[in-house]
Amino acid sequence: MSPVFDLQFQARLNWLSEKTFLVGRGYSLASSAISEGKLPVTAVRIKQILQTSQLPGRSRLNQLFPGDSAIIEFSSPSVFPQAGVYESAPFVVLDSQSNESLGEGVIEFVLRRSTNIRWQNLTINKQARAFAKQQQPCCIWFTGLSGAGKSTIANLLEKKLYDSGCHTYLLDGDNLRHGLNRDLGFTEADRIENIRRVAEVAKLMVDAGLIVIASFISPFKADRQLARALFESDEFIEVFVDTPLVECERRDVKGLYAKARRGELKNFTGIDSGYEPPENPELCVQTTVQTPEQCVEQLVQYLVTQNILLQKIVE
Ligand code: ADX
Repeated sequence: MSPVFDLQFQARLNWLSEKTFLVGRGYSLASSAISEGKLPVTAVRIKQILQTSQLPGRSRLNQLFPGDSAIIEFSSPSVFPQAGVYESAPFVVLDSQSNESLGEGVIEFVLRRSTNIRWQNLTINKQARAFAKQQQPCCIWFTGLSGAGKSTIANLLEKKLYDSGCHTYLLDGDNLRHGLNRDLGFTEADRIENIRRVAEVAKLMVDAGLIVIASFISPFKADRQLARALFESDEFIEVFVDTPLVECERRDVKGLYAKARRGELKNFTGIDSGYEPPENPELCVQTTVQTPEQCVEQLVQYLVTQNILLQKIVE
């Protein structure tokens, strides 16, 4: 993908909404100084809390609550503005899905690091690496509840592709949480960062020419949307493993639902933490009526229709 320039800037933000402000979550920024219209932004970090209406002791890592005021570093994959254009510009922060107004602030300055880091164009690029592997790299992203069957199907799919001579890699939630993401838990802020890191890794692997299979609960629409935005439009294939909560809980392979019901596990998806099903996934598989093998067959046929796989190599 041609690199989108990351515009980074520092701003003062007054958070007004009852919804929690989260580092890493995608928002829209509207300002009369922005001629391109609304700017998609994510907060990179909360640099300083200026004022808070919260009681001391409330955990606020990577979060803001209503009445909080803070210095924030934002990032936006946007066209780089002319020097000085954004300085002192007032703005409103909107929910990127509903456009609801959530907060307001003023841009202080554009961060110099975003002007001093340039993208290096390398001689051996994605096309060359894909050509060497004789395949169409892509990211097949599985989302669904814990116990839905994501890992089982992802594993079978990788085996099928591997046996057909494809070059693949499977990124799995539980496995990555043993290494790269071992510092992350299951709060909303941590899940956002989990998905952000995984999506960036998947992007590098697609750039390396691989067919990447990602298997993560990835419960929030906005974060899956940010993951998708890292890829070309035909490179990201979202697969909803649609298994109802009652069925996942009945299976309870790891015994985690029982623990969550007993109150021994906090923020468990489907119990006391939400899951937002995708509205328009490229594919939906239903494990209550399809076997894992049938799900894989449906996926393979989809990849053939998308010209990612050749019919003859998967027969
Ligand atoms: S995600 O929500 O951030 O995408 P991820 O897919 O990496 O989650 O990890 C999910 C796995 O962690 C589950 O399969 C389950 O085994 C384990 N797990 C442990 N605690 C939780 C929890 N509170 N909520 C969901 N999964 C949990």
